Amino acid sequence: MTDAPGAARDAYRPYRPHRLRTTRAMRRLVAETRLHPGDLVLPLFVKEGLDAPVPIKAMPGQVQHTEETLADAVRAAADAGVGGVMLFGIPAERDATGSAGDDPDGILQRALRASREVSDEALAAGGTGVVVMADTCLDEFTDHGHCGLLDEQGRVDNDATLERYASMAVAQATAGADVVAPSGMMDGQVEVIREALDRAGFTDVSVLAYSAKYASAFYGPFREAVDSALQGDRRTYQMDAGNLREGLREADLDLAEGADMVMVKPAGSYLDVLAAVAERSEVPVAAYQVSGEYAMIEAAAAHGWIDREAAIDESVLGIKRAGADVILTYWALEIAGRLTKGP
Ligand code: PBG
Repeated sequence: MTDAPGAARDAYRPYRPHRLRTTRAMRRLVAETRLHPGDLVLPLFVKEGLDAPVPIKAMPGQVQHTEETLADAVRAAADAGVGGVMLFGIPAERDATGSAGDDPDGILQRALRASREVSDEALAAGGTGVVVMADTCLDEFTDHGHCGLLDEQGRVDNDATLERYASMAVAQATAGADVVAPSGMMDGQVEVIREALDRAGFTDVSVLAYSAKYASAFYGPFREAVDSALQGDRRTYQMDAGNLREGLREADLDLAEGADMVMVKPAGSYLDVLAAVAERSEVPVAAYQVSGEYAMIEAAAAHGWIDREAAIDESVLGIKRAGADVILTYWALEIAGRLTKGP
C-alpha cells in the first residue's frame, strides 16, 4: 500500500468523522445534544420599593426588578417559550429571623402572585405559560445574611431553620409557586418542606432540591444582586469543592426525602458531579449556571476577548451534555430568542 501514489488509494479511509461535519445542515442532523427554550429557567431578582430597575454591576444586562418590570420579564420569558422563572426577593427590611420571607404580603410572595397571573394569562392566550419557581431560603431576608437562623454562638441552627423554611414554602405555594426550591443546604429541608406542603393541601407543588450545592466563589456577583448582608462564608453548610461522593449522597438523601427534582450548583466547574448525579437519578436533574459563570463570559466579551454568543451557547450546551434536563441561566431569555429565530 505504501508504494502506490494513486489518488483513489490515498482517499480510501474507512473512518472519516469529517464527513458528518461538512455542512451546517449535516451538523444539525447529527447533533447529539440540543438546547430547547423549554429546558431553560430564568432567575429573576425583585426588590421591594424600587421605582425603576437597578442594574447589577457585576452582572451586566441583569437588574433588580421593580414589581412591574418583574411581571414584564416573566411575560417576555413566557412569550419566548422559556421553561420557567426562578424568583429571588429582596425585602425593604431585614431581621434576624427573616420575617419578610414568609409574610403573605412580602416582596417574594407579591412577585409570585404577579408571576402566577402572567403565566396563567399566557396559558389562556393559547401559550404554555412558564413554571413559576421560588427560592426557598432565608439569606435574602435575614439581617446577618445567612441562609438560616443563628444560635447564641452565631452558628447556623439547622433544625430551627427548618421550621422557617416550611413556613416560607407554604407562603410561596399559597402565592402561586408551582415549585419551591430550598437552596439553603440545611439537613432535612426537603422532608420538612414536603410535609408542610402536603399538610397545607399543596400536594401538587413540587420541590426542586438544591442537592449538591457547593460553597463557591462563583456566587460573588449574586451577593450584589440581592444586596447580601453576609460577612464570612457558608462553609459550614454548603459543600467543599473537592467532594463528589458527598454530592451524590446529598442527592440521594434529597430523593429519599421526596425531592421531585435535584440540582447541582454551580454548573460549569461541577460537570462531573452533574454527570454522576444524572447517571443515577430517576428524577429530572437541574443545574444552575451561577452569577460568576455569567459574569466571567460577559466580562471577557466586554473586553473583546471572546465571542460572546458562541461562548454563551457553548457553556450552556456543555451543561446539557453533562446531563442536565433543566438549566438555570441568566441568559435563558437571550438563548431562547436565538433558538426560536433559528440559525
Ligand atoms: C441562596 C442562593 C445563592 C444563590 C442562589 N441561591 C447564594 C449563596 O448560596 O450564597 C447563588 C446564585 C448565583 O450565584 O447565581 N439563596
